[in-house]
Amino acid sequence: MISQEKLQEILGNIPAPGNTRKLVDLNTIREVKIDGEKVEITAATTVFDDQAKIWLKGAIENVALKQDGVKEVNVNLVALKPKEINAIGSVIAVMSGKGGVGKSLVTGLMSVALRKQGYRVGILDADITGPSIPKMFGLTEKPYVTENGILPVQSSLGIEVMSINLLLQNDDDAVIWRGPLIGQIITQFWADVVWGKMDYLIVDLPPGTSDAPLTVLQTLPVNGIIIVFTPQDLTAMVVRKAVNMAKQMKKNIIGVVENMSYLYIPEINKKMEIFGKSRGDEMARIAGAPLLAQIPVDPELVKLCDQGNIESYNTEIYGDFARNLFDVLLTEGQAKNI
Ligand SMILES: Nc1ncnc2c1ncn2[C@@H]1O[C@H](COP(=O)(O)OP(=O)(O)O)[C@@H](O)[C@H]1O
Ligand SMILES: [Mg+2]
Repeated sequence: MISQEKLQEILGNIPAPGNTRKLVDLNTIREVKIDGEKVEITAATTVFDDQAKIWLKGAIENVALKQDGVKEVNVNLVALKPKEINAIGSVIAVMSGKGGVGKSLVTGLMSVALRKQGYRVGILDADITGPSIPKMFGLTEKPYVTENGILPVQSSLGIEVMSINLLLQNDDDAVIWRGPLIGQIITQFWADVVWGKMDYLIVDLPPGTSDAPLTVLQTLPVNGIIIVFTPQDLTAMVVRKAVNMAKQMKKNIIGVVENMSYLYIPEINKKMEIFGKSRGDEMARIAGAPLLAQIPVDPELVKLCDQGNIESYNTEIYGDFARNLFDVLLTEGQAKNI
């Protein structure tokens, strides 16, 4: 007779309609009970319409009946809200003391680094007035909206993305909503989006240390913060502000990332610190957290981001960044095996 764990695993591997996600990704299989030759399975219908529900029931029955020792299958469908099925390992927010330092880029690179290690990763673009994640990943498809929940849009590598840009009619529509409404959208991005079962949800915060990032940190259950900065004059002050905000919110800073650290000139095999001397170690001290990456100024990277191809950026940055991230995530007890 098949074990309960094994049956749960096999059912989880059933591809959901659309074929890009499996039932386990959507956390659809809620319970599997085995009683002699009888099996009782409870499944969530969160993103399934009436037709898909019929399919779901049939698919689960068929697969279960094929298993060793199973003679009778009962499938209960339950209508659960996204909030009730979402199971997210860690929520990591990417913060910067000011705009334009590459916060979104770091969010993107970090998500790709984790995804390339085989983790299930999502990006919640919380920069409502300056959303730039969809463009970076070349996403134009609209999220699948059902009455029960919204499915994020998947990138080529399978990163789940939710951004206000994906919901707007036109990419260039300006979002001029103020505080309370922004809070509501973030709440919805958390509670009404079907993230499913996920290892890491990376949040691209609004820039700076104003009300907007504060609202997001108050709204979402953030486990750790990563601060992004560039090596410029006022960096120390800007990073201190971000550190203070994190402390005020009682959030843990798990690392800092220096962006635009240097420009590498291959012809002379030299790194030039064009924005000033690296401040990586100093900022790590100020934040009381490790320096996770030093990202060079790279015109190729800008080109790929503009083309929506950030995932095809091919450098050892991903490996180093991922390794350092794992070190901190493991010590935080947050990294998970899949
Ligand atoms: N390491 C880098 N090399 C080259 N260009 C970069 C780098 N980091 C960021 N940029 C560019 O700088 C601009 C701002 O980056 P972005 O990630 O949107 O910043 P933020 O989210 O902090 O406002 C973008 O056009 C981006 O392509
Ligand atoms: Mg940004």
